[in-house]
Amino acid sequence: AYVVTENCIKCKYTDCVDVCPVDCFHEGPNFLVIDPDECIDCTLCAAECPAEAILAEDDVPGDQQSFIALNAEMSKVWPIISERREPPPDADDWNGTPGKRNRLER
Ligand code: SF4
Ligand code: F3S
Repeated sequence: AYVVTENCIKCKYTDCVDVCPVDCFHEGPNFLVIDPDECIDCTLCAAECPAEAILAEDDVPGDQQSFIALNAEMSKVWPIISERREPPPDADDWNGTPGKRNRLER
């Protein structure tokens, strides 16, 4: 499955959800996750993300490994999002900021 990683936090551009053919994105307060049981590895979402936050599971770097389980866990809790929304007004300020994982809201 594809995995949403740290740089989505507080960016949440949502361009990714528009292209997903199986609507497997789920929305939290400031982050999205992919349901690994529904993702069909079509690859389309990864190129759409302005934050380059979506990676194939095999390409997730060592310091982002915890996001694999986080996507699986929160996709069972958060609601499906299938249409693009306006990103937060300060999304561009957070794009690329390191150490955002402590800012994840559940
Ligand atoms: Fe959806 Fe395809 Fe991205 Fe999986 S790889 S989340 S199926 S757009
Ligand atoms: Fe997040 Fe990128 Fe989608 S910032 S909401 S994974 S377009």
